[in-house]
Amino acid sequence: MNEAPKLNITKSKALFEEAKTLVPGGVLGARKPSDFIEGEYPIFLDHGKGSRLTDVDGNEYIDFLCGYGPIILGYREEEVDEAVIRQLRDKGFCFTLTQPYQNQLAKKLRELVPSAELSIFLKTGSDGTTASIRIARAYTNRIKVMRCGYHGWADWSVEMKGGIPAKLYEDVYEFRYNKLDQLEELMEKYGKETAAIIMTPFGHPNHQKMEEPLPGFLEDVKEIAAKYGAVLIFDEVRTNFRLSMGGAQKLYGVTPDLSVLGKGMANGYAISAVSGKTEVMMAAASKLFISSTFFPNSDGYIAALKTIEIMERDNVLDKIWEKGDRFLKKIRNIMSKYDVGAELTGVAPMFYITFKKDRAETHRARRDDFYTQLIRRGIFLHPHHHGYISYRHTEEDLNKTVQAMDEAMAYVSEQFGHIEAI
Ligand SMILES: Cc1ncc(COP(=O)(O)O)c(C=O)c1O
Repeated sequence: MNEAPKLNITKSKALFEEAKTLVPGGVLGARKPSDFIEGEYPIFLDHGKGSRLTDVDGNEYIDFLCGYGPIILGYREEEVDEAVIRQLRDKGFCFTLTQPYQNQLAKKLRELVPSAELSIFLKTGSDGTTASIRIARAYTNRIKVMRCGYHGWADWSVEMKGGIPAKLYEDVYEFRYNKLDQLEELMEKYGKETAAIIMTPFGHPNHQKMEEPLPGFLEDVKEIAAKYGAVLIFDEVRTNFRLSMGGAQKLYGVTPDLSVLGKGMANGYAISAVSGKTEVMMAAASKLFISSTFFPNSDGYIAALKTIEIMERDNVLDKIWEKGDRFLKKIRNIMSKYDVGAELTGVAPMFYITFKKDRAETHRARRDDFYTQLIRRGIFLHPHHHGYISYRHTEEDLNKTVQAMDEAMAYVSEQFGHIEAI
């Protein structure tokens, strides 16, 4: 009764068949069809504007992935794009030396992000997390690293270990978010050899429920880092310029030694930063070579400066929190109507609906049915990844999404009946 018709994604599928003859596996990493629900989600997009994306078959979606995080304002945000276009046309962006925007952006970060005394600028989040580890290792003259969360695709951190010699990650140990005892145990064993504790200050582990810090958790982690002389790094690639202008560190009041910033900073343009305490950051000046042909390109800096200007001028994050809070409340109301074992976690700017395990192990099927019904209704949410709310999501978008969720939950409820969660 509540089943929506399948989308026509014929052109996406044809392009994917062609792509498989040109690119290993067709498309890379997190964009693979098998990472979504095969046959249901589009594979190739044509264009986007505001909160909406349109695929190559002409299907339009209200998108909550926001380009996997960098779209904080909206797709094709004119003021940002115009600033970049002006730069490309009037001055140029790829030069032999650095342009002064570096200094402007570093000053802005110092103003906004509590840990940001000095900054270096790179392109991707993985560049940033990897540079932060190198800085911490150079500063402490130690090797071991404690980590918590996804930190990108570099050798020391990626989950799929194919092609990586064990010696490049064997000094890296993992602890779970909010599990202080796990970190304590690791540090009792290896604390004196530990260069860095790197963690997402807000819990958003891959494929799992989101978590805010338990009272005292971040403070205790900071104390442990200080006790053993390890550098505390907050990986704020997703959270800075999204939870607050100064990141989760500002929101929760715990300042690390180093921070890695990325995604939300430039509304989609490639730029990331490692920002931190002067004493630690100075290792980057004296002991390390961190350089790329493209790091000084000014398109990212211009986009970041303009994005930050708009966010401050228009109180973007306050507005995202307000509408996000209203939206999550409505989702909770719907979820309370259906006994389908769904759970909503996260905070207003970043949220995720997961499905509880049951004895009959139907949680994956319930999840896939729910997200299938959403994508068929033009709501782009991901079965394995949380969603984001951007400035350009309208009240109408959010209400349409709530309506689609109501229908999708009703469908799951029809299919599975009462769920005995374990
Ligand atoms: C917390 C975190 N750190 C690092 C990264 C890696 O960033 P990038 O994909 O830009 O290399 C990501 C990307 O999703 C991330 O979410």
